[in-house]
Amino acid sequence: MSTIIDSRLGRAAAEGLPGPRGLPLIGNLHQIRFDRLHLALEDWASEYGPLYQIRFGPHRVAVLSDRAEIQRLLADRPNGFRRPSYLEAAASEMRLKGVFAAEGEEWRRQRRIVVDALNRARIEDFFPKLTTTVGRLQRRWERAADAGELVDLCRDLMRFTVDVTTQLAFGIDINTLETSGPTIHRHLAKVFPVLHRRLNSPFPYWRFIRLPADRELDRALDALELEFAAMVKAVRERLEREPGRRQSPRDFLEAIIIEMEADGSRVTNEEIFANLGNLLLAGEDTTANTIAWTVHLLTGNPDWIDRCRREIDALTALNSPGVESFEQTKRMPVIDAVSSESMRLKPVAPLHMLEPLNDTRILDHEVPKGTTIFMLLRHLATRDEHFVHGDRFDPERWLLRQDARHGPHDHRAFVPFGAGPRFCPGRNLAMLEIRTVLAMLCSNFDVLPVNRAGVSEQVAFTMFPANLFVRMRRRKRP
Ligand code: HEM
Repeated sequence: MSTIIDSRLGRAAAEGLPGPRGLPLIGNLHQIRFDRLHLALEDWASEYGPLYQIRFGPHRVAVLSDRAEIQRLLADRPNGFRRPSYLEAAASEMRLKGVFAAEGEEWRRQRRIVVDALNRARIEDFFPKLTTTVGRLQRRWERAADAGELVDLCRDLMRFTVDVTTQLAFGIDINTLETSGPTIHRHLAKVFPVLHRRLNSPFPYWRFIRLPADRELDRALDALELEFAAMVKAVRERLEREPGRRQSPRDFLEAIIIEMEADGSRVTNEEIFANLGNLLLAGEDTTANTIAWTVHLLTGNPDWIDRCRREIDALTALNSPGVESFEQTKRMPVIDAVSSESMRLKPVAPLHMLEPLNDTRILDHEVPKGTTIFMLLRHLATRDEHFVHGDRFDPERWLLRQDARHGPHDHRAFVPFGAGPRFCPGRNLAMLEIRTVLAMLCSNFDVLPVNRAGVSEQVAFTMFPANLFVRMRRRKRP
């Protein structure tokens, strides 16, 4: 049977499409905690199947967890589907309409510059700076180990990822790992929780009243703009000093400034700031939380810590603090298997949102233009029909040869970096950060969990491990 799902008021309600019963006016809002939205949606998917509907106040939302349809929708961008229009509006209001939120021609132009700034050759050239930054993280954890201090993993890893992104994409070393004062990552930390709340709010309250969190966000955005203005100034001065760089820009910021100065360029200061914010936000929480989740899973599976350790010890010189060359990072199948398993079970993007640009059909249902579609990426990757014992932490599955597997192992159901033309352009950088940090951690430290059972999943745009604290102990080498 064919049904209609509509996110706009006044259109026909969906008939025949399953979904949890809601209340008049508020729909299913009373059944959802927004910091755990993904969990409610996943539970309902188990009950109502691969396509169901819910209501956020007056808005109907379609929730999809079918592998083939998810792949098809992700691939059909930018012409058939887009990120939700309310994401673009929210990002604009937060001065953050850069590559992540842009669409059409504007997106194509920005995407080209971002992809170039993050390409493989640049990442390889960047490797020495990355190892310096990993060394700073190591010294931070050594100090914590010697002082017996609790380590807030997500916080330290966010300092690390901000330092990495600013060096690679903007050519500037802000070294938040060794700076104690207010730093850029604290301003960034204000953005995602408010963005998440606004995206899921049935009513744009912030246009009428500013809550304390909204005012705090405004202050954080002002502070970020000042930081960005200083970065742009520093890069402009660098280009003046070394005009040769104009022929072959070495990072994103150089490339976009040169494009801005070109005759007839449409690039504005606002667009530069928005993209600096996009790159930092897209690269910071995602990578930091992925590493944090991986460490959390490893502390519950010490045999896998031993296997990672054996892999690194065999790869590097005796008593080496971690990875020594870019080549070595390509030979870490165990660490890769552990991080893939972590991204399968604890993806930082457990759900993803799209909107059709035209009336369309999904799994034999009519879906009108403009309907919000939530895609449940984690639900997809943990189903037994796609991965044998889908809810089990079992990195071995990524190491087995195809003919040695007993049950399904469907790569197409594993999309932690998205898919299609808007696939994450930071994947190579993220994987390099993950490998080098895990190698350093396993080589040098025993990680002692603190209240492991108290760690929980929370979503503030990305999914992070709430209450994750550990103690580090220097590893005693045999
Ligand atoms: C483990 C770490 C990361 C994960 C899991 C991740 C995941 C994702 C996902 C799911 C998307 C949406 C893809 C889609 O729509 O199909 C995305 C987009 C994006 N990511 Fe990442 N990401 C990570 C790290 C990074 C890093 C390090 C950077 C750059 C510094 C980055 C930059 C971006 C950008 C710019 C986009 C928007 C692309 C576009 O709209 O064209 N990401 N990422």
